[in-house]
Amino acid sequence: MSPSVADEIDWPGLRETAIRAAKRAYAPYSGLSVGAAGLTRDGRVITGCNVENASYGLTLCAECGLVSALHASGGGRLWAVSVVAADGLPLLPCGRCRQVLWEAGGAELRVDTAQGPQTLAALLPEAFTPADLASRREP
Ligand code: THU
Repeated sequence: MSPSVADEIDWPGLRETAIRAAKRAYAPYSGLSVGAAGLTRDGRVITGCNVENASYGLTLCAECGLVSALHASGGGRLWAVSVVAADGLPLLPCGRCRQVLWEAGGAELRVDTAQGPQTLAALLPEAFTPADLASRREP
């Protein structure tokens, strides 16, 4: 399985998986349960949910759990991601999570939105990437 412009991603299925993950969220402080489901380029489906903390700033977003699950389940690259709230509707990843997702899926990662799938490049234009590190690091 490899990504192409005419890719065949089961978006309804991926969103359903994200909804199930949202039901496992731990969000007693914000009351916003978030679930994330990802399809890897080798066909695995992985999930994450947000986990809050009494020390608010320590909250883990659903996408962070997802990327941790990516690596814990064998690594590889993300091909498509659906992030939803408990109402079942897509939730656009926060800025930090767009950067975290970039590391795992790059510019071509497909992201579920209410208007249909978009590339991560459209959601995070002019991202900071490893190329910036390589070109700007001090000798
Ligand atoms: N949240 C996520 O899990 N992902 C996002 O991209 C946006 C926000 C969570 C963090 C926190 O638990 C709750 O939503 C409210 O901000």
